[in-house]
Amino acid sequence: MATVYVTRRMQFNAAHRLHNPNKSDEWNKATFGKCNSPNYHGHNFILEVTVGGEPDPDTGYVVDLGILKKILEEKVISKVDHANLNLEVAFLHGVLPSTENFAIGIWKQIENELPSGTLHSIKLTETENNSVVYRGE
Ligand code: NI
Repeated sequence: MATVYVTRRMQFNAAHRLHNPNKSDEWNKATFGKCNSPNYHGHNFILEVTVGGEPDPDTGYVVDLGILKKILEEKVISKVDHANLNLEVAFLHGVLPSTENFAIGIWKQIENELPSGTLHSIKLTETENNSVVYRGE
């Protein structure tokens, strides 16, 4: 049996601030530096969602990328694009919106939209040099 991994890439931009309200202002400044800036800052994010499975005998597809794109647009992009991740995104409410936590949040948003066990990884790139990968629990 041949498992093939298929990736859909999406781009969006969003603002955030790294700030832990349970810690002092000094701790936040020392820990997060510029990312703690009170007026938020933005990133051009790249989201890469990988689904794994065997090609369907009728279509040759592991997943219809048009359907995957629609799921990502509806469940993620429409909620986060041009948004403030600290203030405006329900699925990140109460979560410190680091790229790590953001990737976990995206996983939870889409996991149940796909056939069980097929979501393989979420890669979220925040800057040219910084990215995270989440593969579920
Ligand atoms: Ni940032």
